[in-house]
Order: sequence, then structure tokens, then C-alpha cells
Amino acid sequence: MKLWTGRFHKDLDKTTNDFNSSISFDSRMAREDIRGSIAHATMLGACGVIDKAEAEKICDGLEGILADLENGTLAIDPEAEDIHTFVEGELTARLGDSGKRLHTARSRNDQVALDDRLYLRGRCAELAEQLRGLILVLCRKAEEHSGDVMPGYTHLQRAQPITFGHHMMAYGEMFLRDISRLKDAARRMNECPLGSGALAGTTYPLDREMTASLLGFSGPTHNSLDGVSDRDFCMELAAAIAICMVHLSRFSEEIVLWCSWEFKFIELDDAFSTGSSIMPQKKNPDIAELVRGKTGRVVGDLTGLLTMMKGLPLAYNKDMQEDKEAIFDAVDTLHMCLKAFTPMLDTMRVLPENMRKAAAGGFINATDCADYLVGKGMPFRDAYRITGALVACCIDRRETLETLPLEEYKKHSELFDESVYDAISLERCVNGRKVLGGPASENVLREAARVRGLVEQDEKE
Ligand code: ARG
Repeated sequence: MKLWTGRFHKDLDKTTNDFNSSISFDSRMAREDIRGSIAHATMLGACGVIDKAEAEKICDGLEGILADLENGTLAIDPEAEDIHTFVEGELTARLGDSGKRLHTARSRNDQVALDDRLYLRGRCAELAEQLRGLILVLCRKAEEHSGDVMPGYTHLQRAQPITFGHHMMAYGEMFLRDISRLKDAARRMNECPLGSGALAGTTYPLDREMTASLLGFSGPTHNSLDGVSDRDFCMELAAAIAICMVHLSRFSEEIVLWCSWEFKFIELDDAFSTGSSIMPQKKNPDIAELVRGKTGRVVGDLTGLLTMMKGLPLAYNKDMQEDKEAIFDAVDTLHMCLKAFTPMLDTMRVLPENMRKAAAGGFINATDCADYLVGKGMPFRDAYRITGALVACCIDRRETLETLPLEEYKKHSELFDESVYDAISLERCVNGRKVLGGPASENVLREAARVRGLVEQDEKE
């Protein structure tokens, strides 16, 4: 049954009805729709817009519908136009005229703007919780491998020595910011649009503060046009999710590289890898690849939302019904990715010997060799040039800086003595980088403890 039959002489064309309907994707907001209606009815009763006893009856009816939906005795009608229509129709079927009073001083425009916010606010909290779980895994990995030297890269060329723990904590920082972005988005969307009506508010004496507080909002929205017509909260959340997916995608790319035979820095657990139907030797990092791949669709969700909104005049336009599939897909995708990614990371085996071997091979202590000369009084630019020549000499002789004989060093500068070998040892190079934010083992342990503390604090809030 349509909510808007009065003016029309015919039923909506069947195909058009299907095209127009949003029930297939907005029914997931049933709980929020009902909670919103309960708050609205309670407020209408308190303000004397409807009779108090009738408001109570409506609330009981709505509670009954919610209970029946949750225990499975009531199914959502797939033919309903949308979730709002379905709930109101069901209420009216149960209560008669009282059900028909629920929509007093309300429009589906402020109702859907409310449901979206209530639903997404909950999902933000859930995603933040998942990210906290991921960060705790990273902290543990970092602690376990705080002293394991690996090559740090620029241009995917071995650059300077770092620790595996430091690498893990880099992602820890990114995911902490992702949590903060999710929380920001949730905080900004936490205003109640109910009372904005279709676009121009209402003449009924509503207590909008009351509805807002019943639903846990920080307050009501302050402009009726804005309340019903912006979807910036969807775009902002989609942007936060897309950024988080990009972080996961870069991490996934590294996992894919690291478990290749070319690197072999890690080995994924069998439970989180897949095989090939033809090549018996294969063990593939499908989970990481899927996370990387799904990042594309989430970026698409964000792009879709931005593009859908950019030309819309105020206030509500039906285009905006398209907000839901995009933002739901973004939320669901990140949720699914984190569900698979975190245990994959948790169970991966780290192979420090292989990292150490790679670190020993790429002249990644060349900067430290130059710094050694600087320590002996040489200007850095000269030290840089001499070290470059030493590296070229090593390449010719198939040596490393560690194995190059002292006479060879001395040919390039008299400042070199035996102590150079200690100065360029990888452990020293790494552990000397204790500057705030550096990869030294002691920093990694301190950072892991700090980040764990932040996550635990965040959990309490
Ligand atoms: N299903 C609609 C949506 O998601 C609900 C709002 C309908 N409002 C309207 N004026 N047709 O946007």
C-alpha cells in the first residue's frame, strides 16, 4: 500500500514500481526506522500533538513490530516501496487509526535522513572496533620483531635499514588516523534531522531537543533544508573508508610481494592462502589481493556519491535514494576486508633470516658509511661522493661494504680505520636511529606500548 495514493487515479506501473522501490536495500535500516519512530511518537505525545495514551500505544505497537522482525515472525514485504512505508503500513494494520497518526509532523525526507544517520553511526563504531583489533595485532607483531632488521625501500629499491617492527607500526599509525576519521565522521553526522519535515519544518510545536536526546544525538540540525538534503555525512564516511581501504591495499600489496619467492619475508598461514587448480606448487595470497582489488570498488562508491550529489538543487531529490547502496557497500566491504585481513596478519609467519639476508645485500648502510666520515670531520657532500665510489668499487669486486678490505677503504680516504666495520653493521645502523620516529628496536617497543595504550583508552571511550 502506497503512502501517497490520494492524488492518483491509477496504481504505479509494475516495472516503475520496482525501479522506484528501495526496500531491497533500505530494509537493513528497519531497526533504526522503528527506533526513530518511537522517539518521534514519544515526543508527539509529550508535546500534546497527539494524545499521550495514543503515543504509548504507537510505541508499544512499534516495539512489537521490532520484536517480531527480530524473532523472525514478521517478514519484510519485498513489495513495499521502502522501509518507512512498510513499518507504517504494518503499524496501521495492527493498530488502525492510531498507526495513521505516527506520521504527523514528519516526512519521509527527514525520516530517511534520520535513519541513514542512525544506521551509519552504529556502523562507524563497529568499524573502529575492528580497526582497534587490527592495531593490537600490529603492536604484537612489532614487539615480536622489534629487533629484526629488514631493508626499508624507496622506489622499491633497498634504501636504509629498518626493523620489521617499525614497518608494522607505520601501518599502526595509519589505522589510528583511520579510526579518528571514522570518529570525526560519526561525530559530525550525530545531529538529528527529525522535525525538518519535507523541507520547511512544521507548524506543530515539536520539541526537537527531546527527539534528539532520546536518540542519543548531540542536538537537532539547525536548518530544515540542510537537515533533509545534505548527504555530506555519507560522503565523508565514504572518504574515510576509502582512505582506510587504500591503507589496507598498500599493506596487501606488500604482503603479496613479501610472500613471493623473490622476497620470502613472510609465509601466510595455510588457512589464509589458496592453491592453484593446475600448478601444484602454488600458494597464493588471494586474501591480500582481494583486499587490494576491493579498494577499487570502495573508491568507486565514494566517486559515485560525490557525483550523485554534485548537481542537486536543495532540498530532497530522489537521486539521493542512491546514497544507500553506495555507502552500504563501502561499509560492508571494509567490514569484510578487516574480518579477513586481521586474522591473516595475525597468523602469518615472519621470516627474519630472509629479511636480514636482503638487508645485507643492497648497500643499505651506505648512508651510515658516509655519516662515519662526517663523524671524522669530513663535510657530508664529500663523504657522500667517496661512499658512492666505494659502492661502485664493491659492485666491481662483488663485495659488500662489510666485506671490503680496509686497504680499499683507505685508498678512498685516510679517515677510515677498523672502526668503520662496526659503524656500518646493520644492527648498529638500525639501533642508532633512535631519533623520535626512528626504527631503532627500543623505539619500536616504546611505540608499540604507546599505541596499545591509545587503543585501550579509545576502547573505554
Ligand atoms: N526511499 C527514499 C530514499 O531513500 C525515502 C525518501 C522518500 N521521499 C520522497 N520524497 N520520495 O531517499
